[in-house]
Amino acid sequence: MAKILVTGGIGYIGSHTVVELQKVGFEVVVVDNLSNSNVEVLSGIEKITGIRPVFENIDCVDYVSMDRMFEKHSDIVAIIHFAASKAVGESVEKPLLYYRNNLVSLVNLLELMPIHKVQNLVFSSSCTVYGQPDVLPVTEDAPIKPALSPYGNTKQIGEEIIRDTIHSNASTKSIILRYFNPIGAHASAEIGELPNGVPNNLLPFVTQTAIGLRKELQVFGDDYNTPDGSCIRDYIHVVDLAKAHVIAVQRMLDNRTKSSVETFNLGTGRGLSVLEIIRTFEQVNGVKIPYKLVARREGDIEKVWAEPSFANNELGWKATETVEETLRSAWAWEQNYAQRSKID
Ligand code: UD1
Repeated sequence: MAKILVTGGIGYIGSHTVVELQKVGFEVVVVDNLSNSNVEVLSGIEKITGIRPVFENIDCVDYVSMDRMFEKHSDIVAIIHFAASKAVGESVEKPLLYYRNNLVSLVNLLELMPIHKVQNLVFSSSCTVYGQPDVLPVTEDAPIKPALSPYGNTKQIGEEIIRDTIHSNASTKSIILRYFNPIGAHASAEIGELPNGVPNNLLPFVTQTAIGLRKELQVFGDDYNTPDGSCIRDYIHVVDLAKAHVIAVQRMLDNRTKSSVETFNLGTGRGLSVLEIIRTFEQVNGVKIPYKLVARREGDIEKVWAEPSFANNELGWKATETVEETLRSAWAWEQNYAQRSKID
């Protein structure tokens, strides 16, 4: 079966995607520099699929090592490029780190692809490129708004780098996937979101508060122009998201793409507020989340959710998990992880 390179394959979305790729028979090579991930995730993947993916501890910014990696695995037919830094606040403090990590790694891949005869690239982008959309739900042809952070800018520039490169060289093809807010964990609770330090994202903060690692959750803003005053996002189960990558890779390998760059929104089409997430989490899991309403977080978008019909109809992919099941899986993962950490 075809061999796929997954950069950042030990990370949150990457690890769930490796599982789905292996489940349908793809061979996977993971490249990861462990900068924001734990090598034990490989054992979690192995527990689920029975296969330990080949792992190369390489930083994608390192051109020479990436070149050698492609020499060694000369039968790679497609790349899913997750490896990137993703903390919005950190990117404001260390912009050059973000431009180097997120953009140099992409340039390296795009340079190495024709040399090693790899044609297909799936790129992790984000709904952050839309900023605060004028029309909701947001479609793929909505205008790209000025980025609110260096992180967001790396996703916009990354998309442009891909388009410009492909425009100049017909041999490379790409599918750009714009993620909304991935949450939840694999049903086995063997892999899930594992942030280093204090979580920036909502769900890991919720689960860590539920388990007692954090005293209380801060809800950033209660005076937004939304029904309950808190921000609205399109939360999508990470396994649904992972499956979209398998479909995208297969689409490119089968030559079913309609153009050399395609862009899809990956969301559910349903917007939920921060307070709705907290309430639903409490209900389905029977735990209390102590929280406090605090000031808005700088750079937050008021409300955004996807129009997923292009992905539904053209890609043939649809998010199927309910938010209840997704929030259950997030809690099961946190508990399982806490249990394992006690035993270790
Ligand atoms: C942000 C980025 C997104 C990126 C993602 C990855 C922007 C505008 N968004 O998503 O592009 O892909 O991070 O890390 O750049 N919240 C709280 N309390 C918390 C944490 C979050 O109330 O402790 C709220 C936030 O205000 C927001 C919602 O929960 O309304 C979701 O926040 P988060 O999980 O951080 O994701 P985004 O900010 O949507």
